Amino acid sequence: MPTVDNPTEKTLAELGIRDPLEVAAEFAKVRDRFDFQIALPADEMRKLMLQEAWLGSELDPATSLRNFWVGRKRGVLALISDNWLKPAPTVLKPVVGSELNKLKVHIEAKLEEKRLSLEKTAGEQASAKDRIDLSLPGVIRPIGSHHLVRTVMQEIEDIFFSIGFSVVEGPEIETPYYNFEALNIPEHHPVRDDMDTFYLDLPKGAPGPLLLRTHTSPVQIRTMEKRQPPVRVIVPGKVYRRDNPDATHSFVFHQIEGLAVDTDITFCDFTGTIEYFVKQFFGESVKTRFRPSYFPFTEPSVEFDVSCIFCGGSGTGASGATCGKCKGSGWIELFGAGMVDPAVYGFVNYDAKKVSGFAFGMGMDRLAMLKYGIDDIQVFFQNDVRFLRQFP
Ligand code: PHE
Repeated sequence: MPTVDNPTEKTLAELGIRDPLEVAAEFAKVRDRFDFQIALPADEMRKLMLQEAWLGSELDPATSLRNFWVGRKRGVLALISDNWLKPAPTVLKPVVGSELNKLKVHIEAKLEEKRLSLEKTAGEQASAKDRIDLSLPGVIRPIGSHHLVRTVMQEIEDIFFSIGFSVVEGPEIETPYYNFEALNIPEHHPVRDDMDTFYLDLPKGAPGPLLLRTHTSPVQIRTMEKRQPPVRVIVPGKVYRRDNPDATHSFVFHQIEGLAVDTDITFCDFTGTIEYFVKQFFGESVKTRFRPSYFPFTEPSVEFDVSCIFCGGSGTGASGATCGKCKGSGWIELFGAGMVDPAVYGFVNYDAKKVSGFAFGMGMDRLAMLKYGIDDIQVFFQNDVRFLRQFP
């Protein structure tokens, strides 16, 4: 409902206005009313527009106010034009006309001003939401660390780099030829039983069979096929066996293979190299020994032991009890090795009469466990950050 007693609903005659001065005064009143309304804060304006029954549910108060004043049919300006201007006596018409024009211009200007300022505040509010506050503390993303096996791999590599070895790598999926035959392990040789092997399920017709390598030794063959002596390489990598997981077994683990072949390599070079490595890795005070062993691709073959790093080789722990790590023997079994069996050279077209060399294969996880006092190999593969974080 329009406000009671709205002067713009009446004619000037009904309002008793007869001379130009009174006209101007009446217009001034209307203008004041507008100025007052447009200056209202949004909630007041909303209240007023509700009162005036101008606020449609879909409209914001500022748009309602605009319609209230300049709406084509029922807006205040339209009413003035209908009720004041049209029926005005000829004497008053020019002044009513010019006052109405002035009022129109004033109202339009102010409405536009209001619209712009509302737009600006809305824009500012929106961009305040999007703005990046450079003074806020940043998001701290955790930086990972090297896995202990990777660290130990690096340590081992550095030691061998220092005596002229280089790193080569080979595939984790192998053919039986490289994993067994070329290493002098023929099809029905019993040592194949030691390495319960993962064979791959291949699609029908695919050339095969293929298996997950059970040791890094196939890379000895791959390297010798490609290079002529002298060869001095180490081969770090993952290997796979069908072992049941326990504290010392895992179906995937890491080895580092070593191979040195030249025209004049002796057993002394072999033991000297191993001893150098072990002392660099565990410390000068450790002692090494080797025991006879058997591998089809080395002859003679040995098993290298290191004096127990937990009890200093005494076999008794600090408390006087038998050392649990070496079970009182004072020695810890480290890895297999040997002089390259001449039969292997036959597979790679090396002249077995001219060349000689040695090879070794160490369990990297085992070396890491011994050096860093870890008693369960499974922790290397569980990726529990509480473990990993201890080795930054
Ligand atoms: N490949 C052997 C194994 O995994 C270790 C080894 C490597 C032995 C090289 C001798 C020479 O058990």
